[in-house]
Amino acid sequence: MKILITGSSGLIGSEVCSYFGNQGHEIHGIDNNQRAVFFGPQGDTSWRRSELVESLPSYTHHDLDIRDRPKVMDLVKQLKPDAIVHTAAQPSHDKAASIPFDDFEVNATGTLNFLEAARQFCPEAPFVHMSTNKVYGDGPNQLRLVELETRWEYEDAEFANGIPESFSIDQCTHSLFGASKVAADVMVQEYGRYFGMPTCCLRGGCLTGPSHAGVELHGFLSYLVKCNLEGKTYKIFGYKGKQVRDNIHSEDVARFIECFIQEPRTAEVYNMGGGKENSCSILEAFELCAEISGKKQKYDYLEKNRIGDHICYYSDLSKIRRHYPNFTIEHTLVDTIRQIVEVQNNKNG
Ligand SMILES: NC(=O)c1ccc[n+]([C@@H]2O[C@H](COP(=O)([O-])OP(=O)(O)OC[C@H]3O[C@@H](n4cnc5c(N)ncnc54)[C@H](O)[C@@H]3O)[C@@H](O)[C@H]2O)c1
Repeated sequence: MKILITGSSGLIGSEVCSYFGNQGHEIHGIDNNQRAVFFGPQGDTSWRRSELVESLPSYTHHDLDIRDRPKVMDLVKQLKPDAIVHTAAQPSHDKAASIPFDDFEVNATGTLNFLEAARQFCPEAPFVHMSTNKVYGDGPNQLRLVELETRWEYEDAEFANGIPESFSIDQCTHSLFGASKVAADVMVQEYGRYFGMPTCCLRGGCLTGPSHAGVELHGFLSYLVKCNLEGKTYKIFGYKGKQVRDNIHSEDVARFIECFIQEPRTAEVYNMGGGKENSCSILEAFELCAEISGKKQKYDYLEKNRIGDHICYYSDLSKIRRHYPNFTIEHTLVDTIRQIVEVQNNKNG
């Protein structure tokens, strides 16, 4: 297959490039290192681009801005890929408020550019879009919760497995990032429903792995491990540090994308996270990380939570498992943290 992957130097994009490139597929990656513009040098992803170029003979890089519609159209016309995996984004909840136009133009209009290019030049190609659990806004915060010693938990049995795809995305606070991602998510669904294209949205929880260029504003576990190993103070924003996230390794995300490309469906939406088994609160993540690294976590507690931040969120994986019974999550949370620690330790020499 010829696969076009946007955001190819980022966490998910680069994992997907390696995953399919190592199977011998022809890979075309698009990335202009915009993450360094969004987050400064700590967010630079050009090292991943170099790794891909050096390690994958079937990889071609396109240094292109996904907002550049004529160039996007030309490239898709020229390549006519067999599948498109769209991971390029402004990915931070908090950052979006200071760059609303860039956020919307990258997340919403950038996605539309690829959808329309795909409709014109390769409408049969499975189109996988990385969406986010922030499309549910702070709706999950309205659920009844119980406070346990180290985490918040859902009280109602209905949510014992987590948040399902049927949860409302409407009439709640999303952050500007959540709103631009809703626009993209609904547009991806619409190209499926209206034009019959094989599209799907993966509404990510915390996607993680050793390739993440974690920064305070994006990349929960990667940044937390970085702080732990470098003895830096991690800031907790509200909710007593008991806020819960579900974590999934980027390789497991790539594995699901393969399942979808092999057996595509139309206009689908899946919650994509580690599920309850791979969920943890910030306080629990500190403990797990300290057990693995042998270093105690330094942290500050700030009373004010991030606007729209989830108190407790983990993905209900029932639908994805029903539609794709062969899909399994191979990396446990502990494995994933161990890998991040090892890779960061190697980088730090
Ligand atoms: N990492 C997470 O925890 C998480 C959670 C939920 C959803 N997601 C979604 O998954 C997707 C991938 O996230 P990630 O963690 O790999 O992000 P990332 O920031 O690591 O990777 C995104 C890549 O896209 C590139 N990019 C950004 N704007 C671009 C533009 N205009 N033109 C070309 N390239 C551009 C960046 O340089 C970066 O390398 C995003 O859509 C994000 O919203 C991520």
